Amino acid sequence: MPKIVVVNRAGEEKTVEADAGLSVMEAIRDNGFDELLALCGGCCSCATCHVYIDPAFADKVAPMSEDENDLLDSSDHRNETSRLSCQVQLTSALEGLRVTIAPED
Ligand code: FES
Repeated sequence: MPKIVVVNRAGEEKTVEADAGLSVMEAIRDNGFDELLALCGGCCSCATCHVYIDPAFADKVAPMSEDENDLLDSSDHRNETSRLSCQVQLTSALEGLRVTIAPED
């Protein structure tokens, strides 16, 4: 069960545990972070699950799809570490991953 560190918009950190196979969005949402809206429920059509991924894990997360890339382009807060958290699956390789919830668009 990978543990990940979630940083909320206030800069507060919390370590959460979630089953491998869940998405990072599900791990965040299921641990009480209500600022991550995830309005579309994980079908890559809303961009309200935007997070920044620790650059140290950039090569351990699966590459983004064209759809995810297009949706992220709609955010004013995109940077080179941006991902839609519903599109990132938790695996044991992501143990210790740190994700920061991006500002609301
Ligand atoms: S939850 Fe809607 S794009 Fe991720």
